[in-house]
Amino acid sequence: MDPGIALSLRDVRFRHRNAKGWALDDVSLQVRRGQFVSVLGANGAGKSTLCMLVNGLVPHTVPGDLEGVVEVFGADVAEDSVAKLSSRVGMVFQEPESQLFCMTVEEEVAFGPENLGVPADEIKGRVEWALELVGMAGYNDRSPFSLSGGQKQRVAIAAALSMRPDILVLDEPAYALDPIGRVELYKVLRELKEKHGMTVLLAERDAEEASLYSDHIVLMENGKVAAQGPPKEVLADPERLVSLGISPPQMSEVASLLRSRLRSPDIDFTRVEDAERTIIERVLPAGRGAAR
Ligand SMILES: Nc1ncnc2c1ncn2[C@@H]1O[C@H](COP(=O)(O)OP(=O)(O)OP(=O)(O)O)[C@@H](O)[C@H]1O
Ligand SMILES: [Mg+2]
Repeated sequence: MDPGIALSLRDVRFRHRNAKGWALDDVSLQVRRGQFVSVLGANGAGKSTLCMLVNGLVPHTVPGDLEGVVEVFGADVAEDSVAKLSSRVGMVFQEPESQLFCMTVEEEVAFGPENLGVPADEIKGRVEWALELVGMAGYNDRSPFSLSGGQKQRVAIAAALSMRPDILVLDEPAYALDPIGRVELYKVLRELKEKHGMTVLLAERDAEEASLYSDHIVLMENGKVAAQGPPKEVLADPERLVSLGISPPQMSEVASLLRSRLRSPDIDFTRVEDAERTIIERVLPAGRGAAR
C-alpha cells in the first residue's frame, strides 16, 4: 500500500437494500494525501452513497450489497468498524442544523473527543485549535442555533476537526448557504488543505467553487464515473456538464463562448484573472481588427 494514498476505491459497486439499481456502479478512484477532490453529480448520481462509504456508514449502518474494495489509509472499510473509522474520517453533512445539538459551540466541538475519552486538557486545546482554523475563535459560549448558516457549517467542520481526522468528507456542505457563505466555506476548506495538509473529499452539484478550489474532479452520472481529472480538463465543456445535471462554472461558459466566436480551440481558463488576460490579448485586438 502506497502511504501517499488516502482513499482508494477499486471496482466498487453498491446497491442499497431493496433498491433495484446500483447506487455506485464500477467506481474506481484514488485520492492522494493532502488532495482536495470534488465529486460532482446530479440528484441520485451516488454522491452521498460514496461519502457514506468512506466513513463506513455504508455498508455498516446503511445496509446493502457491496462489491470491490474501499480502503481508507490502507484499511478496508468493510472490515473496520464505524467507530474506528470515525476517528480517521471527519464527516460534514448538507444541513448544518442536522449535525448540531449542543447548547454551546464549545460543547459541540468537544463532543467527539469527549466520547473518545480524550483527557480534558487536550480537549480544550483541540477545541481552540479547531475553532481558530475555521475562523470561529471566541464563539465558544454562543448557542450554535444563534449562528448564521455559514457559521453553523464552520462549527460542524470544527466538530469534525476536533477528532483530528486524516480526511474530511463533506456532503454538499454549501447547500444551505448564500453566495458569501459558500465562498467563505470553500476558503476555510482550501486553507485546511494548503496550511495543514488536510485531505478533503467533497460532494457538490454546483461546479463554480469546485472549479476554483479542487485539485481533482470526479464527475458522476447514475452511479458511474463519467470523467475525472484536473478541473481545467474535466470542466471545460459546459454543455456536457449541463447534460450531467451539474451547473457549470461561469468562467468555463465564457471560455466556451470565446472558443466558438473566435474559432480558437486553444482558449481555456477557469479563473477571472485568466479570463481578463485572454480578453485583453485575444478579444480586444480582434475587435480592433474588425473595426478597421
Ligand atoms: N437508503 C436508501 N435506500 C434505497 N435506495 C437508496 C437509499 N439511499 C440512496 N438510494 C438510491 O441510491 C442512488 C444514489 O443516491 P445518493 O443519495 O447517493 O445520490 P446523491 O448523488 O447524493 O443525490 P442528491 O444530489 O439528491 O443528494 C439513488 O438512486 C437513490 O435512490
Ligand atoms: Mg446526496
